[in-house]
Amino acid sequence: MRIYREDDYCAMSRRGADILAAQLLLRPDSVLGLATGVTPMGMYRELVEKNHRGELDFSRVRTVNLDEYVGLAPDHEQSYRYFMQRNLFDHVNINPDATHVPDGRARCMAAECRRYDQLIEDLGGIDLQVLGIGRNGHIGFNEPGDEFPLGTHVAELADSTIDANARFFASRDQVPRKALSMGIRSIFQARRILLMVSGREKADIVAAALKGPVTPRVTASVLQLHPDVILVGDREALSGL
Ligand code: GLP
Repeated sequence: MRIYREDDYCAMSRRGADILAAQLLLRPDSVLGLATGVTPMGMYRELVEKNHRGELDFSRVRTVNLDEYVGLAPDHEQSYRYFMQRNLFDHVNINPDATHVPDGRARCMAAECRRYDQLIEDLGGIDLQVLGIGRNGHIGFNEPGDEFPLGTHVAELADSTIDANARFFASRDQVPRKALSMGIRSIFQARRILLMVSGREKADIVAAALKGPVTPRVTASVLQLHPDVILVGDREALSGL
């Protein structure tokens, strides 16, 4: 695992954007696995600026997002499709048809899970997967459990996840209780993983995930076994390593 220890959130965001830009220079038609959350927002802003300066071309890029809340429409302000449009897709020259987010309003969730796994396979797998980490160590919405969820699945959100994500909704009651999430298999099969972490409140879980036992109780711990993980964090988030 390569570790970039950056001074603060801005530096972390710039480093993440440089790594992602290098990936697109080497392979302009890369399949990018993308994440939502506050952590990658600064990186997306940097990528938009690089695109506007003519340094980065998204015209051949394909994307698959990690997850989506069950029940939220794509134009709901808290849906992850909306997040991606607002933070990245609407501002760069990406082909809208090449951007994929699980459909949280699919009529049949089991079929949507199968479709999403097949889609990732048809794209040839993920070249670079961007990840953040939840306070309970989840990646995507792969919540703590007795075993690693392998395929795309409907996740019951842990209470701690509902608490953490309530800040984005008017009240805790409005946080969806379920989400569609890419499973550990697709994440783990990504050829390269860019894990981004920021803030003191992530320090303990980052240390547990990357130094503790590999266990489905902390799903990010599986990353210890991946051959090509780049960890980019600010000093606070990496203070336990
Ligand atoms: C959500 C997402 C994760 C994300 C996590 C951390 O639960 N499903 O993909 O990594 O939150 O978010 P943040 O970066 O806002 O701390």
